[in-house]
Amino acid sequence: MTLRQLDRDILVPGKPIGFDVVDASGRILLPMGTPLADEAQAKLLWTRGYRMEEERAPPTRAASFQAPPPSAWRQRPKSSGGISNAPKFFQPVERLSFQLEEIFSDLLNGVGSSLPERILELSRAIQIQLGRDADALLAAMELSSNTRYGTLHALHSAALCDLVASSQGIPSDDRRTLIAAALTRDVGFLELQDDLDRQSDSLTAEQQDLVRMHPLASAQMLREAAVTDPVWLSAVEQHHERLNGSGYPRGIAADSVQSQACLLGIADIYSAMTKPRAYRAAILGPNAIHSIFQTRGSLVDEACTQSFIRTLGVYSPGLLVRLANREIGVVVRRTENLKAPDVRVVADPEGKLLQIYPSRDVADPDFSIVEVLPRASSLRDKLNHRQLWGENHLASRR
Ligand SMILES: [Fe+2]
Repeated sequence: MTLRQLDRDILVPGKPIGFDVVDASGRILLPMGTPLADEAQAKLLWTRGYRMEEERAPPTRAASFQAPPPSAWRQRPKSSGGISNAPKFFQPVERLSFQLEEIFSDLLNGVGSSLPERILELSRAIQIQLGRDADALLAAMELSSNTRYGTLHALHSAALCDLVASSQGIPSDDRRTLIAAALTRDVGFLELQDDLDRQSDSLTAEQQDLVRMHPLASAQMLREAAVTDPVWLSAVEQHHERLNGSGYPRGIAADSVQSQACLLGIADIYSAMTKPRAYRAAILGPNAIHSIFQTRGSLVDEACTQSFIRTLGVYSPGLLVRLANREIGVVVRRTENLKAPDVRVVADPEGKLLQIYPSRDVADPDFSIVEVLPRASSLRDKLNHRQLWGENHLASRR
């Protein structure tokens, strides 16, 4: 990865930027899609901010934008949603992805009946899967490499929303509405999201407007599909609003942003940061948590941020970590101790894969987590998932 200095003319107060702005150490200063608050922030980013890029030949103007296949999201998914060559461990994510892509396709084509009911049904399926083994589902999402960005991002945000809302004592039926909002918050934006993922230039003025308006476009698409629930629609419309009024599309602040939208906003930021994009690697989970924590009380609600971090912990299931003794482990489950999840060792200090994965107490300084390995680690594809998570998370075949 390389760091490229920012063009001064993209730093305009009130306008969102189409990529994460990072500092020299790679820490996010401004998440993608967040509008600049004012001229002072623009100046600060101009002096300290960078764009993170894959190392590659500089794009020519003509080659810098590659259009995706037309209407890629409009085509119905071809997989049968579970019968694939992927390991069994990923079947629940594959099934949920398949159903969500069918819904996306019908929403974009304006066809299909009972869409609100189908989305709520999928929300219930996510809750059932979380009930079977939430850690295994989060790990499968972390380790999945076959699922499209837009689908995985929506499912991940939805799962996080349900877990955090559950920890806040919100009843299951109300959480289902929140999950539905998380799944559909970007439906007015799916095709542009694909375009932006392939684009190495700054956003055009038209694209900036589309980014800024996508919460309203998504809500409108849902209304046209017969969604009438005001909580669902408001959460979609407000998921990019921020506590201090610096969000979009309306720039409303604090009291006007409903609590569901606050939680959805945090889950959306975390999930977006921790997924890799064409123009940058994934931000490592602990860095994303740190970045969100730093904006509590200004951009995101403090109590909601605390619930989010208490629920997810610092190290999400599925992360590969290096321990103080140089062994490589996998985060298997969250625990009460936010910084000390259950970790099983999968490779020795030289990186050689083990046959049997022993547990390590990472609260013990001898085995503490000293590094999170990047998603590109080749060990990810060689794990024995059954040894790590068992098979309770797999639905029984009917
Ligand atoms: Fe969004």
